[in-house]
Amino acid sequence: MTTAPSADSHRIAAIVLGAGKGNRMRSRLPKVLHRIGNRPMILHTLEAVRAAGAQTSVVVVAPDMDSVADAVAPTVTVVQHEQLGTADAVKPAREVAGCGFETVLILYGDTPFISAETLEAMVALRANGEHGVVALGFRPKRPGAYGRLVLSESGELKAIVEAKDATAAQSNIGLCNSGAMAVDGTILFELIDQVGNENASGEYYLTDIVEIACRQGRTCGVVEADPDELLGINSRAELASAEQIFQQKKRSAAMEGGATLVDPETVWFSHDTVIGQDVIIEPQVIFGPGVALADNVEIKAFSHIEGATVANGAVVGPFARLRPATSLQEGARVGNFVEVKAALLKSGAKVAHLAYIGDAEIGTEANIGAGTITCNYDGFLKSRTIVGDGAFIGSNTALVAPVTIGKGAIVGAGSTIAADVAEDALALTRAEHTAIPRAAAKFRDRKKAEKAKQAPEKKG
Ligand code: UD1
Ligand code: CA
Repeated sequence: MTTAPSADSHRIAAIVLGAGKGNRMRSRLPKVLHRIGNRPMILHTLEAVRAAGAQTSVVVVAPDMDSVADAVAPTVTVVQHEQLGTADAVKPAREVAGCGFETVLILYGDTPFISAETLEAMVALRANGEHGVVALGFRPKRPGAYGRLVLSESGELKAIVEAKDATAAQSNIGLCNSGAMAVDGTILFELIDQVGNENASGEYYLTDIVEIACRQGRTCGVVEADPDELLGINSRAELASAEQIFQQKKRSAAMEGGATLVDPETVWFSHDTVIGQDVIIEPQVIFGPGVALADNVEIKAFSHIEGATVANGAVVGPFARLRPATSLQEGARVGNFVEVKAALLKSGAKVAHLAYIGDAEIGTEANIGAGTITCNYDGFLKSRTIVGDGAFIGSNTALVAPVTIGKGAIVGAGSTIAADVAEDALALTRAEHTAIPRAAAKFRDRKKAEKAKQAPEKKG
């Protein structure tokens, strides 16, 4: 295989087409914003483009797609005002990708699995062969509506024929057009300007630039890729299959990295989930965005984790929820039915059962009893709770923030703590204990008598 030209000497721009409505998704959300691994699919494509060495990317959107512009920022977007075809879609990108680039990559925003390696191979073939255009081909099981790649006997690309315009012989070609292209940046827009719309669809076909380049005496080539990489998403069912493919990859990568997934099919990752070595993940665990687990972490069954960093040896779950801005230091433990949000649990801190810890800092080796609630919100503002190292919070305690519990302090069970507690102090707020001898028995006797009086009336 040829090596890619070095990034400093070879300038690459990428144009990602995303103006399509994606009618088959039946969605108010633009198709390219539907998520895979908790990230809009177009951002998967943009990441591949960046990894392949593109210095600039530009996304083509339709006029009502501000939401796409927001999602891809700081990547620039340009607007295609009317959907006149894929060649027309490239035109508004001229201002961004029109000069100074040796190779311009053109991709579709609904093909999220295209790899950086494939794009690099296209750029390398384009540059080393001095080709006008390099198309990305694949051999799908059913070529159906895909454009067909017409090659010369020596294997040079001569034309791309759309299925609707193909002759019977051309329809039998198995090598299809994925849509992605690498084009000589110095001639791209000149080629685009020559594309007409006299064809079966009345559209300006990007694919026509191959024949135009050949007519001008340029050569064109093909890179072939695995069909799995080129999966296009047009419906919710295809979105679900894409999610499955993505999850399988993440599960395999986690296991290859030395994590045990007890039941891999039931663990769901996000695009950015980081999993250390000798991590154990029990069944039915969901990772939202922004999670990093260090080595030796254990995530027990039925836990939901997002925006959290978990340090070496920490144990989470079963049935735990870690919400964004949570950080667990070494050996910290979060047990069943505990929710933690925007909180730091220092080394060895334990919140073992039924608690809410939000906007808080829990000291080293502190122990938070069952049913403890940090009352962090007064309906208007959030406030912080600080629990010092080695402090012990008894069960069913309400910590009314802002509040600080000093190092080594003990809070008695059932307390409502609304004022700071000093280091090593014992604090408790408890109603006085009252017990009236025999009162329960007397109460029962009285109630039984009342019930007996009512009973005959009911029967009648
Ligand atoms: C295109 C290719 C075909 C290829 C197939 C692979 C052309 C003429 N044909 O066909 O050879 O096999 O993709 O999936 O290019 N778009 C715009 N503006 C437009 C039209 C399209 O932004 O005016 C975008 C769409 O959002 C989509 C992409 O371009 O992301 C492809 O458009 P689509 O109409 O789906 O092309 P196909 O007919 O599938
Ligand atoms: Ca399509």
